[in-house]
Amino acid sequence: MSHPALLPVPAAVSWRSTPAFALTETTAITGPRDAGTAVADALATRTGVRPRLATADPGDAASGPAEGAIDLRVEAGGAPESYRIRVDADRIAVTAPDAAGLFYAAQTLAQLATSTADGWTIAAVDIDDAPRFGYRGVMLDVARHFHSVATVRAFIDRAALLKFNHLHLHLSDDQGWRLALRSRPELTAHAAGTSVGGDPGGFYTQDDWADIVAYAAARHLTVVPEIDVPGHTHAVGLAYPALAADPVLSEHVLETVAAFGGAEPTPGVAYDGMAVGFSSLKIHDEATYAFLADVFGELARLTPGPYLHVGGDEALGTPPEDFALFMSRVTRLVADLGKTPITWHEAGAAAGLAPDTIGQYWGFVTPTDGMDEKTRTFVRNGAQVILSPADAIYLDMKETPDSPLGLTWANGTTSLERAYAWEPTAIVAGIGEGDILGVEAPLWTETVRDLDDIDQLAFPRITAAAEVAWSPQHHPDRTWTSFAARVAGQAAHWDAAGIRYHRSAQVAWDAPASADDSAPGAHEVA
Ligand code: ACM
Repeated sequence: MSHPALLPVPAAVSWRSTPAFALTETTAITGPRDAGTAVADALATRTGVRPRLATADPGDAASGPAEGAIDLRVEAGGAPESYRIRVDADRIAVTAPDAAGLFYAAQTLAQLATSTADGWTIAAVDIDDAPRFGYRGVMLDVARHFHSVATVRAFIDRAALLKFNHLHLHLSDDQGWRLALRSRPELTAHAAGTSVGGDPGGFYTQDDWADIVAYAAARHLTVVPEIDVPGHTHAVGLAYPALAADPVLSEHVLETVAAFGGAEPTPGVAYDGMAVGFSSLKIHDEATYAFLADVFGELARLTPGPYLHVGGDEALGTPPEDFALFMSRVTRLVADLGKTPITWHEAGAAAGLAPDTIGQYWGFVTPTDGMDEKTRTFVRNGAQVILSPADAIYLDMKETPDSPLGLTWANGTTSLERAYAWEPTAIVAGIGEGDILGVEAPLWTETVRDLDDIDQLAFPRITAAAEVAWSPQHHPDRTWTSFAARVAGQAAHWDAAGIRYHRSAQVAWDAPASADDSAPGAHEVA
């Protein structure tokens, strides 16, 4: 018997050979309403069969007697976000210590659903699952190309399917500022109009922002907003020229302009090219810190999650002492607002960061240029790190050389296998399991205009990030062969959800997904 493909692979799965549960329109769901809706939605998307919420309308005679029940319960005990599923012929019992666990169980139930000659069924199984890391992130760059609320919602839907729990939005860069702030209205009035390549820009109103935050929260994702400073700030200078240092036109910047086109960065002119590292806020001007106090103060009030990301990457024209002074001040400002600062790993070069500042590593799987040492600073300070090794997990790298979308600067192309074959504790020497808050897959959008482009670059490689972030390091199905087969097993699910994934040549899309049959951990229990 072939079993459904589960991705990310759960910590423990025991298939039983007893009869399956039959899923029908009269299947009743009992339990907390939000979780029940999540289960009904997940199953309906996958199967077209929407079980009914028994709690919603217990007296609805028209829907008839329940043929079976999916019973959802919050029960104390167990790790945060964990869940258990037991499927019998007449009943599915789901327990979790929290609402997030029930939500993840809903995603797993949808992956379990199987189309048979007798309709949709869910095989008899016991699953006991919990995440490896507490922070499982995806990032969308809405600055290089602006992405609408509808697209962000769709991206959240995709992330939720794979049990990601943080959405990092890169809200500002040289090319644009994407969030309206009441304290600094000039930003979106003057710096939001364009994207890379002269494409249209845009920004989120505060109502849009509240919508994104709430939509994410309903799917158990915490929004992590990033305002990238002191570099990546050319757009700030369009709104507040007095805050911007003159662009530093390094050889790297001029080479990028030559390779990818666009004009050289010019003060007061919207920048729509792809160069990095030329812009900076003025470090020794108190007006800069008044600006940051307004921006991060307002962002803190608008954002319920614990983190504010302050960037700190690629400040290539900023002298090291100035950079250190700046990063110390901006991380302390954020900490004083009651939020935990996150910076890219470069800020680890700065002494005097706010002590709980989290570092996000974006070097390669094998660190170069002292990036590992900068990353260790955060752990030495007593804080944790997020790992985003660019040559494994940057979703905007080309998967194959002929891809019309994506870039190749991170060690060339990133195949699905390369996206899968890395281990978080093996990246930075001295940084072990307990030092790692989690894993995040960024999608930068220099070449990415819309949801189709996002899907093409993100899928299927986003599933590798999901499994690295969620599944145990040591597990019989944590192999490339099992993973590739389970990716193939998602195709029907993605088709049903309207996800326009790339049909990676490394995946046997049309083969039956049964890799977990042969894996030693998938026991048959009578
Ligand atoms: C980065 O890719 N500059 C964080």
